[in-house]
Amino acid sequence: MAVVVDGCLRANQVASQIDLHSEYGGVVPELATREHLKNLLPVARAAMRESGVTSGDLTAVAATRGPGLPAALQAGYSMAQSLAYALNVPFLGVHHHEAHLYSPWIEGSPPQLRTDRFEPNVSLIVSGGHTLLVEVSEFLKHRVAGGTLDDAAGECFDKVAKMLGLPYPGGPRLDQLAELGCSNAHTFPRPMLKEVHDDFSFSGLKTSVRYYLNRHPEWRADASALNDLCASVRAAVVDTLVGKTVQITRRLGLRCVTASGGVTCNLGLRRDLASACARQGWTLRLADRGFCTDNAAMVGLLATAKLEAGARPTDWDTEVKPGWPLDLAEAERGG
Ligand code: KG4
Ligand code: ZN
Repeated sequence: MAVVVDGCLRANQVASQIDLHSEYGGVVPELATREHLKNLLPVARAAMRESGVTSGDLTAVAATRGPGLPAALQAGYSMAQSLAYALNVPFLGVHHHEAHLYSPWIEGSPPQLRTDRFEPNVSLIVSGGHTLLVEVSEFLKHRVAGGTLDDAAGECFDKVAKMLGLPYPGGPRLDQLAELGCSNAHTFPRPMLKEVHDDFSFSGLKTSVRYYLNRHPEWRADASALNDLCASVRAAVVDTLVGKTVQITRRLGLRCVTASGGVTCNLGLRRDLASACARQGWTLRLADRGFCTDNAAMVGLLATAKLEAGARPTDWDTEVKPGWPLDLAEAERGG
């Protein structure tokens, strides 16, 4: 839960469920929903306390409307809608990836969404559920150019990490170990890198790692073998993400790249995107690491900017949209 005052972020409370789900090696939807229901009010209270404002001061309330797990979305959406209704202020349902999409423009202390600094860009959104390349021609005007045909980048990292026996969520741990390994130790596939389209596919890479591990059980014997595997897998994923991003940015003749979503925490991805953009003379905006993994700050700041830009509040009789495509998020914009 986040609180935004005059466009500045004044509170950002995150209730992590990592400990809960790590026991099962992945998100258990029923548990996620129950945990949301348990945490919503205490977290809301903590955020209000941190911000120093009271609920009577609120002028609007926003919540994530989709995409995501239906029941988990519904918990937050219903609570936010009820709060807005009781306070008689506008309510806005926000697209989860649209919030990621503009998170690279959050900067400063206190953090603000700097729409005044906006320039047309290609945006890479990489999370546990999605890998998207988006052309953003102006603030709130975007077109999805490509996505993943199977596993998302974060999902690939998490699944490979699981095969390597790393604890959930494996992506961050694989990244840490990759820092210690040699990325040339193994050559895993860079899927679809040579093809001229903007889609991704990571399931073949995952399978090729599985075959390798089955054929070479000796990898378990020493720690440096594990580090080399992590570094080599990370290099394959990062080369693919960076290569595809450079390809579309060149093709569209744009000069600015942005990246967001949980996988943008990845040190290898941050480094390689930075050097690729520097080589091309392009501007790179990476979401601050604190705003990469899911957070309410990006939702609250985007909702504030959208309402200021004239977005129509979301109707009271609406429901969550678990499969909401990013291209349709704009349809919610008013005149
Ligand atoms: O955006 P996010 O918090 O949630 C979704 O919308 O899915 O992204 C979570 C994903 C997980 O797959 C997690 O393993 C991955 O982001 N992730 C990382 C790193 N930090 C988080 N993947 C690779 N390297 C990291 N450092
Ligand atoms: Zn996310």
